[in-house]
Amino acid sequence: MTYKPLLEFALEAAREAGQIIRQGWNTSFQIFEKGEGGDLVTEIDLAVESALFKKIGAKFPTHHLLGEESAGNVPLDEGYLWVIDPVDGTTNFSHHFPFVAVSIGLLYLGQPIVGVVYNPILEELFSAMKGGGAYFQEKKCHVSTINALPKSLLATGFAYDRRGTEDNNYRQFCHLTQVSQGVRRAGCASIDLAYVAAGRLEGYWERGLKPWDIAAGMLLVTEAGGKISSYEGGPVEMATGRILASNGLVHQELIDELKKC
Ligand code: IPD
Ligand code: CA
Ligand code: CA
Repeated sequence: MTYKPLLEFALEAAREAGQIIRQGWNTSFQIFEKGEGGDLVTEIDLAVESALFKKIGAKFPTHHLLGEESAGNVPLDEGYLWVIDPVDGTTNFSHHFPFVAVSIGLLYLGQPIVGVVYNPILEELFSAMKGGGAYFQEKKCHVSTINALPKSLLATGFAYDRRGTEDNNYRQFCHLTQVSQGVRRAGCASIDLAYVAAGRLEGYWERGLKPWDIAAGMLLVTEAGGKISSYEGGPVEMATGRILASNGLVHQELIDELKKC
C-alpha cells in the first residue's frame, strides 16, 4: 500500500497550520499557563489544533485524533491515529524565538506511517512516509556520516517537570557536553529530530516527551537512515517519553555514555 495520498494530505494540513502560526506570530496573542513548571499554551496553539482536527475529521471521519491541547486519551495502537502538536516550541513562540513547528504524525496500529514537521517561521519543511524516505523541502535527506562522538553535535531538552525531579537530565547534559562537540537545547523536540534526519545533528536524546512531540520526528529519523531507540538501545516506548535518536553511527557511543550518568 502507498501512503502517498496520506502524506500529501498531511503536507497540505501542515501548510495550512503554518499559515495560522505565521499570521499569529506578529499579533499580540494571548498566552496562558497550563499547569506548574511554565508549561504554556497560546491562543494560536488552540486555533491550529482546532483547524487540524476539523480538516482531518472532515476527510477521514473514521480516523482517531490525539492532540496536545485536547484532553483525549486514545490508545496509541488504535487504527489510524493522527498525533498532533499544533505548536511544538510554545515557549519559543511566546518569545518570538523562531524554533517552532507544527508536528503531524500518522500512526497505523501504533506504527508511524507518515510524519511532517514544518517550521513556518524559517519556512523549513521535513516529511517522511514509511518506506518512502525522508525529505527536507522537496529533496531527499539523509542522516550525517560522522562516526565518532567527539566530532558530533547533539541536542537535548528538559521537560516541564525538571524542577521537581532528580531525573531532570542535567547530569546527562553536562556529561554529553564534555564528550561531544556540543549540545544544543533549542526547545522544540520535533525540530531536534528533524535536524538529526537532515544531517544537521548527529544525535538527540530527551526524557519526559509525549507522543505528539515525537510521532512525526521518529519516522523522519528512521526514513533518513538513522536510528531510534530507548536510552538502553531497546525499542522506543512512546508512552514513557524517553528517546535516543542518532545517525546510527554514534548510537552505541551515546548509549554507553548515557549509561555512565
Ligand atoms: C516541548 C518542546 C521542548 C521539549 C519539551 C516539550 P511544547 O513541547 O518540544 O523542546 O524539551 O519537553 O514539551 O510544550 O513546546 O509543545
Ligand atoms: Ca511539544
Ligand atoms: Ca505544543
